[in-house]
Amino acid sequence: MLQLFRKYFEKGSFSMSNSFEPVPPENKRSWLYNKWTIISLLALLVLIIIPGSLYSVHVVQAELLEKEQLVAEQQLVQKLETEIYPDNQFVQTKEGDFLTFADPTLSDEVKAATQEFIAKTTAKENGADLILSAIHVQPITAKVGEIVTKVIVYDWDTEHKTYKEMDQQVIDPTYIDLTTQKAVTTKDLITDEAHLMSIHNAVQQALLKEAKDPESILDQVLDLPAFDWDTQMIYSPQSLTVVLPKNKEQALDRKKVTLSYPDIARAVNAEYVEPSIVATFPKNEANGKKQIALTFDDGPNPATTPSILATLKEKNVHATFFQLGQQVEKFPDLAKQVHEEGHLIGSHTFHHLNLVTQSNDLIQDEIRDTDKAIFKASGILPTLIRPPYGAVNKTVADYSGRPIIQWDIDSLDWKTKNAAKTLQQIQTTIIPNGIILMHDIQPSTAAVLPQLIDWLQGQGYELVTVDQLLDYDALPLHQYFSQDDERVIS
Ligand code: NI
Repeated sequence: MLQLFRKYFEKGSFSMSNSFEPVPPENKRSWLYNKWTIISLLALLVLIIIPGSLYSVHVVQAELLEKEQLVAEQQLVQKLETEIYPDNQFVQTKEGDFLTFADPTLSDEVKAATQEFIAKTTAKENGADLILSAIHVQPITAKVGEIVTKVIVYDWDTEHKTYKEMDQQVIDPTYIDLTTQKAVTTKDLITDEAHLMSIHNAVQQALLKEAKDPESILDQVLDLPAFDWDTQMIYSPQSLTVVLPKNKEQALDRKKVTLSYPDIARAVNAEYVEPSIVATFPKNEANGKKQIALTFDDGPNPATTPSILATLKEKNVHATFFQLGQQVEKFPDLAKQVHEEGHLIGSHTFHHLNLVTQSNDLIQDEIRDTDKAIFKASGILPTLIRPPYGAVNKTVADYSGRPIIQWDIDSLDWKTKNAAKTLQQIQTTIIPNGIILMHDIQPSTAAVLPQLIDWLQGQGYELVTVDQLLDYDALPLHQYFSQDDERVIS
């Protein structure tokens, strides 16, 4: 009996059968050692238990890493707050791997746009673990704020359990209108079509001034298409950069032109310009003095212009000459002398036609050919224009593309051709801050000029160029009869 029990125990099984007959080992094997059972158990182990335990280990590790990283991040923030941004009043936010310190004066809109820009431009895709940015507004004027953004990119240093600085960059500043909290646009700076035309003129001048061989690009510059609100411009309170049309890049051998604000003072809203630069804008320092601008049309003429230049030089007076293209082509040296002696050259078009009655193509040619002749002779493009007979309409003004200068004191020298009468006519019609019309092709005008200047100065008039008289602020699509008489051409 005992032996029997032992036998059963050795088999590891027990049967309640009456016979005390041992259970055949085959029966046991039939379920315990079935190969499918083993596979199932293994599968269970592989599919649930191992990953489960691995996952648990992972969770624990991740939680640990998260804690370590949080500690490191707090230390970093503390360090930055005390060392780098000690006076900051920044608002700190965290989204994913982006930690941002933002100036509290920033609108959510500006902040979001800046953050989006940072996300795009920083090395997030290169696997940075933490990207810290500080967005700060620096007021430039009462109207403009500069957004200064500093970005620091960190990687997690597993060994030292700390964030390791990988890269630091200061993003090119952007500008907002502090009153609206919106990005400054070209339209804020350049408020209308007349200003846009002035910018176009300035770009043409700059292209020629900065070219190694200006004459080789003169045609390209004169044919530079007009600008519109889609013309790409890059604004900063220090300068304005104009991106040239793609199809002009090759011919002009450059992609953009940077203009300095004093050169385009008349074309920009100074509220968007750095005050120290606005302080250097050209100004007509009249200081309460009466002023007069002498203007001479229809030259240059070798019989009379040299005498007029000699008188002006002797009296130390500067005047404005509206030259005819056809005369400039004939006497380029005289045109050049006028410019070199400090006088202002304006365009009087080429053939002295009444432009109002001409075709658009002819108007364009009259103006373009004169610009070309004056540039070739004197190295400058005229910034002012006086259409013959003062005849102007919107079309002429559009093609002229620069301020139109009329007059309010007509010497009638072209009619009387008499020195005494010319002087008398001016004396009886003089108006302070006016523009006198004369012609440097009239011998009587050349003859009377010394006496005229003496009389004007004796009356307390300061003699200035048209530019100065109009406070360097004249605009295309406007016509000027005197300092106080400006009219929009529509
Ligand atoms: Ni004329």
